[in-house]
Amino acid sequence: MTFEYSSGAFVYRKDGDGENAKLLFLFLIKPNNDLDVPKGHVEEGENAETAARREIMEESGIEAEFIPGFMAYTAYYFYRDGKKVLKKVRYFLSKVSSSDVKISYEHKGYEWLEPAAAIRKLHYRNMKELVAKANEYAEKHELMLKLNEEYANLPGKVEKWRLSKSFVPGEGPLDAKVFLLGQAPGLNEDRLGRPFVGRSGKLLDTMILKAGLKRSKVYIASAVQYYPPRNREPTREEIALCRDFVSGQIEIIKPEYVVLMGNTATGSVLGFRGVETRHGEIIERDAVKYLITLHPAAVLRFKKKGKMMEDDFRLLGRLLKKK
Ligand code: URA
Repeated sequence: MTFEYSSGAFVYRKDGDGENAKLLFLFLIKPNNDLDVPKGHVEEGENAETAARREIMEESGIEAEFIPGFMAYTAYYFYRDGKKVLKKVRYFLSKVSSSDVKISYEHKGYEWLEPAAAIRKLHYRNMKELVAKANEYAEKHELMLKLNEEYANLPGKVEKWRLSKSFVPGEGPLDAKVFLLGQAPGLNEDRLGRPFVGRSGKLLDTMILKAGLKRSKVYIASAVQYYPPRNREPTREEIALCRDFVSGQIEIIKPEYVVLMGNTATGSVLGFRGVETRHGEIIERDAVKYLITLHPAAVLRFKKKGKMMEDDFRLLGRLLKKK
């Protein structure tokens, strides 16, 4: 059997504003009138991402940027010269602001379609499922952009703002099964605008592996999204100001488990502290399952606590496998 690799993307744009906004996806019309998305062979010297970018440019004239975290594949067999070929296709997701498309000789036209209309017109079940998946991710992306926009302006709305002003909202796939919540960004996170990139982040990476997961597969955020100067603990008022942002993130992502790391995260979400006695407990609230554990910084300070955190992440791994 031979293997072949292709890549392409679901390209969407937002049509209209507010409540009436619609997401429209780009479909190219093949000579036999079937619909397709921009995609093609991964050539020698390319990876899936560079090949998808080139194909999108060649087939639609669009210079695509990809939304991080979206992952979709299809695989199918066909026969060429009597030999079985397994073709694997990787799909990215891209948002554009213009409806301009310049098709190539390979297609006879294009359409911007709402997902439901595209699903009705497509023949293959796997393509219908992928359109639904891409649409779900794009909707989450739009909601997250709106949430981030509201909270990035928080410092300007509060009279006596005592935290840093750079916003560290969180990162990871919007369809993650696991959402990890820490305390607040440190100095490194404040500089880079990303959560858990310092020493605590390194330790957290090893814990994620204990659960049988990869960092790229989990969503990571903090109860407070702004650096408290000199790394002090955030105050109750500061935690309260940032709480709705966290619940907004959880509502958008809809993870199977939210791991509350440390007293600030647990206090902010569940309203109590005492994680060293309650770690390993699962608490369900409003259809969300929370797992209580320690903060990585506590483990860095007291190595002996590593075992507690490790046990909790192993438990998380077992719970995820059970589903
Ligand atoms: N500690 C946290 O709680 N959050 C970060 O982003 C980094 C360290």
